Amino acid sequence: MTNEFLKLSNDDKSALSEGSTIHGEKAQTVTILNELADAQFMLLGKTLCYHWNVSGPRFHSLHVFLDGQYNALLKMLDTMAERVKIIGGAAFAPMRQLESFSNGRKHDLEKLSTNEMISDLVREHHTVIATTENFLKKNDSKIDPGTEDLLVANLREHQKMTWMLKSHLS
Ligand SMILES: [Fe+2]
Repeated sequence: MTNEFLKLSNDDKSALSEGSTIHGEKAQTVTILNELADAQFMLLGKTLCYHWNVSGPRFHSLHVFLDGQYNALLKMLDTMAERVKIIGGAAFAPMRQLESFSNGRKHDLEKLSTNEMISDLVREHHTVIATTENFLKKNDSKIDPGTEDLLVANLREHQKMTWMLKSHLS
């Protein structure tokens, strides 16, 4: 499944920091935090959807496992959005993904096989990881330490979640 996050135009991206009165490097940081929160919201929605719709002999273990993952994602998303507010931006990332997720549902997300669901989550996590790594590399000296620490912590968490998801693929 194509990740809607990668399709955002520059206008879309600047809209993610809309409402903010900050400029320059901080505005760039707000934009990337909102983009990442946006992608995390998609991950949260899909993880919850797959938590409900996995089936077969692995149902119970995957149902419980994905319960832990969506609760972790909710905390990560909340922390990301609150960081946007702490540095003076406007946080509204989930609004965009509600529409994307709704479009995704039209493609019958719930009809994917269990392995396709897990693989889809792995792809979504990889997108967040790649975006975070690129931003950290390009803006090494421009990010405030509190935000950098949050991004690195999130990166580690997404990597761990990806490893755990992959371990469920047969
Ligand atoms: Fe549940």
